[in-house]
Amino acid sequence: MSESKVVVVTGGGDGIGKALAQHLAGEGWEVCVADIDEAAAATVAADLVAAGHRAVGVGADVSNEDDVARVADCAERDLGAISGWINNAGNSRPAMLLRMAVDEFDSVLAVHARGTFLGLREAARRMVASETNGSIVNVTSSAGLGGTIGQINYASAKGAIIAMTKSGAKELGRYGIRVNAVAPSASTQMTKTIMTNEKFAATYLSRIALGRFAESEEMAPTFSYLLSDAASYMTGQVLSVDGGTYMVS
Ligand SMILES: NC(=O)c1ccc[n+]([C@@H]2O[C@H](COP(=O)([O-])OP(=O)(O)OC[C@H]3O[C@@H](n4cnc5c(N)ncnc54)[C@H](O)[C@@H]3O)[C@@H](O)[C@H]2O)c1
Repeated sequence: MSESKVVVVTGGGDGIGKALAQHLAGEGWEVCVADIDEAAAATVAADLVAAGHRAVGVGADVSNEDDVARVADCAERDLGAISGWINNAGNSRPAMLLRMAVDEFDSVLAVHARGTFLGLREAARRMVASETNGSIVNVTSSAGLGGTIGQINYASAKGAIIAMTKSGAKELGRYGIRVNAVAPSASTQMTKTIMTNEKFAATYLSRIALGRFAESEEMAPTFSYLLSDAASYMTGQVLSVDGGTYMVS
C-alpha cells in the first residue's frame, strides 16, 4: 500500500458504504465520507473521529461535477493525498420496461453511470497529480453482469460501470493506478423491499448458493483487499461478493 492512506467512500452515509468507511478506518485508512445525505455523512465521520480515527464528512451529489471536485478538495485539504476511491453511491427506481418512464431511466443512469464516471475521473486526476499509485474500486451488481427484471435502468448503469472499470484500468495502468469493481449483495435500505417481502425473499434466496443474505460488513474485506498492495497486480477485474448468485456457466 502506498504511504498515504486516504480513501473517499461515496454513498458512505448508509448501507454498504457506511460499513466500508467503518471497516477501512479500523485498518488505518483516513476516510472521506461523501453522501447526498449530508447529515448521514457527517454522523458517520463524527463517529469515526470519536473512535480515534481521522475522517471527514461531505454532503455531495455524485452526479454533480462540482460536488465531486469539492469532495476531492475536502479529502486532500483535511486528510491528505488521495490513494483510494470507492464509487459506491447508488439509487434505484424499479419499474418494468413496458412502464418505465424516461425520467426513471435517466435518474438512475445519472447517479450510477455519470456518478461513477465523475468519481473515476476525479480520483484519477488527483492520483496522477500527486503521483500516487492509487486504487479505485467501482460498485457494480449481478444486474450489470447478467441483467435483471424490473430494473433495466439499474442493470444498464451497472453494465456501464463494468465497461468503465475495464477502460479505466487500461488507461490508468501506465500511471500505476488500478481500477477494479465489486458486485456485492447485502441487506440494506436498497434491498429492504426484496429481502423483507416473503415472496420476493424466497425467490431471491433460492438463487443464492450459500442460501442466506449477508450484512454490509461482509462486503468490506474484499474492498479492503482491492485497495491494498495484496492486489498490486490486479486491475480491470470484477469480483462478486454475492454468496454465489451470479456465476458464469
Ligand atoms: N445491497 C445490495 O445487495 C447491492 C447489490 C448490488 C449492488 N449494490 C450497490 O452497492 C452500492 C451501495 O448500495 P446499498 O445497498 O448500500 O444502498 P443504500 O441505499 O443503503 O446506500 C446508498 C447510499 O448512497 C447515497 N446516495 C444516493 N444517491 C446519491 C447521490 N446522488 N450522491 C451521493 N450519495 C448518494 C444514499 O444517501 C445512501 O447513503 C450501490 O451502488 C448499489 O447499487 C448493492
